[in-house]
Amino acid sequence: MSTITLKVNGKAHTVDVEPTTPLLYVLRNDLGLQGPRFGCGLGQCGACAVIINGVATRSCVTPVSGVRAEVTTLEGLSAGGTLHPLQQAWIDEQVPACGFCQNGQIMTAKALLDRNPRPTDAQIREGMARTLCRCMTYYRVQAAIKRVAGRNA
Ligand code: FES
Ligand code: FES
Repeated sequence: MSTITLKVNGKAHTVDVEPTTPLLYVLRNDLGLQGPRFGCGLGQCGACAVIINGVATRSCVTPVSGVRAEVTTLEGLSAGGTLHPLQQAWIDEQVPACGFCQNGQIMTAKALLDRNPRPTDAQIREGMARTLCRCMTYYRVQAAIKRVAGRNA
């Protein structure tokens, strides 16, 4: 076991875990952050995405000891109880079906819009392509991202 300090959503946390423990397990089990989900556990679906250094990062395949920068989870988007524009757009477009993948959809969309506030449809499709949804919410995901991008005009 090792003592590891992580900065998550603006707060430092110290945990005592095996260095190879996936970041996802530490976030969910040690810090009680239930936004990131365990989908495939193989880095293939995106349900576990968090943002590190502006990149949507698959926390199920990220060893906690390798994290060198602040981690933002879904819980970190709604500062002060105000929804992030993407979260509001998700409600306005009624995006989720079962909801399981939606953490990954929102976190991946946030990283995309932070890099490119006004993406084209093709850029949205490309940016979101590896974030999987078994309920086929892709069209509503795209509409919600466009709703926020439209406000960035
Ligand atoms: S659970 Fe991490 S990519 Fe699927
Ligand atoms: S909403 Fe069900 S998996 Fe995406």
